[in-house]
Amino acid sequence: MKKFENDAFAYREGRLYCEETPVDSIVEKVGTPVYIYSRKFFENRFAEFTKAFSEIDHKIFFAVKSNFNINVIRIFYNAGAGLDVNSAGEFFRAVKAGAKPEDMILTGVGKTAEEIELGLKENVMLIKAESFDEIVLINKIAERLGKIAPLAIRVNPDVDAETHPYISTGLSENKFGINSKDAFAAFREASKMKNVKLTGIDMHIGSQITSVSPYVEAVNKLAEDFFKLKEAGIALEHFDIGGGMGIRYKDETPFAPQELADALAPTLKKLGCQIMFEPGRFLTANGGALVTRVLYKKSNGAKNFTIIDAAMNDLLRPSLYKAYHHVQPVVEKTPETFVTDVVGPVCESGDYVAKGREIPVVEDGDLLAIMSAGAYGMVMASNYNGRRRPAEVLVEGNKFKIIRPRETFEHLLYEEKLVVE
Ligand code: LLP
Repeated sequence: MKKFENDAFAYREGRLYCEETPVDSIVEKVGTPVYIYSRKFFENRFAEFTKAFSEIDHKIFFAVKSNFNINVIRIFYNAGAGLDVNSAGEFFRAVKAGAKPEDMILTGVGKTAEEIELGLKENVMLIKAESFDEIVLINKIAERLGKIAPLAIRVNPDVDAETHPYISTGLSENKFGINSKDAFAAFREASKMKNVKLTGIDMHIGSQITSVSPYVEAVNKLAEDFFKLKEAGIALEHFDIGGGMGIRYKDETPFAPQELADALAPTLKKLGCQIMFEPGRFLTANGGALVTRVLYKKSNGAKNFTIIDAAMNDLLRPSLYKAYHHVQPVVEKTPETFVTDVVGPVCESGDYVAKGREIPVVEDGDLLAIMSAGAYGMVMASNYNGRRRPAEVLVEGNKFKIIRPRETFEHLLYEEKLVVE
């Protein structure tokens, strides 16, 4: 059976390690299901991205939505990243991680007035607007607060990112950004507003993009707008390419940051302004695994089921996107394999991690690692079926720390009160 190994997770004598720490030794202390992350992986990925663009004036804003544990945010912030926060809640987390608002950009297609006000009062580096109505509201709120809002406008370049339709965002049929044909007018109108200062142009064409060509196409389109705006007297300080850089879940061959840098450099160098990036998945996904225990095995004659103690509420991606996550044993016991559905305890047929998957034969009680779970894993977890969200662990070499304990039953209630007699 194919093993999924990288510089975060690898086997040594049949035991899966995260860095220098055996995964089973973490489970012994923390139980299952548990998210396990490698600090070294996160730092290496950030360094790789930074190095690739070292000849270009750039800044990387970690997309907090991909993994919002405050410790993970802090790792990237300490490494020199700014932060892309998509809501007041992500802003709150970023502050708790020790980040300064002036290192954050406030993004999102539907920011509320309250969120815009928060961003302005706290002096975030910039707010990205995604509609003309929003620009008007930002100007109005800034006026009330006696502030000048630093503003970037997200343009929808109408480019096919060739990814899953749910995570494709740069087509004109998607809800994101201002349509490219209306963008110039939006910039012109915004430039006349008293309480905004236009600082940038922005795009984000989708997620899990594995080829550089959609980026080249979109950057070229946006560069045309950039120069048109310059001619019209609107000189911008930032050109934001967004995130979306894909990773290997199974057998994809994603581009390396250097390939993206090489493909974009000629255009980016001509712009003469700061280039911004907002990667999430690239930095975090393959630095994490969700570790789970086999509860039961059964067969209906035609099909095998392996029932595990993690479910769609813990990792939603397979159920929501039919996403592939590699499943492999934490301790290798046998080369013998079987074909099985790997399913969770939630009361829905859509609750599965893998369908018709060949994995090594497992017994009740065995541990399985669900790989590539460092991005859009814990952040999309819920309490469905009254399930407590899993623990999160950060590995540093041969040590590990619990960075969020498993939820208690009390967490499930929060401040819910019994008022019905
Ligand atoms: N910037 C903006 C404006 C975004 O909307 C996103 C992701 C990112 C940056 C980061 O994209 P990344 O580098 O991580 O691809 N839940 C889905 C992914 C949704 C992505 C949403 N936006 C999944 O599990 O595949």
